[in-house]
Amino acid sequence: MDSIPVDQPLREAAALLGQARRVVVFTGAGMSAESGVPTFRDALTGLWQRYDAQALATPEAFRADPALVWGWYEWRRHAVRRARPNPGHLAVAAIQTRVPGTVLITQNVDDLHERAGSPDPVHLHGSLFAPRCSGCARPAPSPDDAAGEPADGRRVPPPGCARCAAPVRPGVVWFGEALPPEALETAVEAASSCDLLLTVGTSGLVYPAAEIPQVAARLGAAVIQVNPEQTPLDGIAEVNLRGAAAVVLPALVDAVWVGAAG
Ligand code: APR
Repeated sequence: MDSIPVDQPLREAAALLGQARRVVVFTGAGMSAESGVPTFRDALTGLWQRYDAQALATPEAFRADPALVWGWYEWRRHAVRRARPNPGHLAVAAIQTRVPGTVLITQNVDDLHERAGSPDPVHLHGSLFAPRCSGCARPAPSPDDAAGEPADGRRVPPPGCARCAAPVRPGVVWFGEALPPEALETAVEAASSCDLLLTVGTSGLVYPAAEIPQVAARLGAAVIQVNPEQTPLDGIAEVNLRGAAAVVLPALVDAVWVGAAG
């Protein structure tokens, strides 16, 4: 098997991770890129091509056209069901095994961390798999998957709540909505008390989630960033690992625990 060259930034990151006792892993859409999960903006194909993602992911859009918005989330849920965790997700689960107590905070609404073996990720932006009533907030089951989804998507009227009959909505955080208070509190608490935060595949542009690595850095934690592109988080990162999560994270885990560094 070809070995990945261990360069200086990877060596530095491995040294930081090897010494860390309280670790936070903070992930965004880039984490699932190699699994083929369309990012939020890439998900606007077919039926939704002419819409703006930021306008579709709002309570106003759902009220105005529930079938359009629910159909978009059903299409995305089906795409995630077909996807598999990539080696980056597995590497995150390996870090959690090696450093007990590691807190995983994700902005992703997919379930690929769970399927890679990460117990209880903190879902800051909710989940595609936790629909709830738009009226009384009662959790609702995900619809039956038997039908499948046409490639171009379709309008799907949302089911009605079993208790109050209001339309069921996706269990995600839309633009203009508050983050789930418990998830946010857990994330801020973990970021405030960690000694290392590993940020992976996030643009660092969407607030308040983007505060999480900043809180950690402000309170003295080392920040390692994994991203093929520059981001606003470059400045606070002690080490920037430029590359794809599915390649860099397994190399990092190997460098710390399999002794590939050197
Ligand atoms: N590995 C690591 N990072 C990658 C990869 C990859 N293979 N491919 C792309 N990236 C990086 C991009 O360079 C970019 O910086 O992932 C980042 C994705 O940025 P966004 O699409 O803005 O995703 P994210 O930061 O998760 O956005 C936060 O905003 O889109 C809304 O609610 C949605 O939860 C999402 C939130």
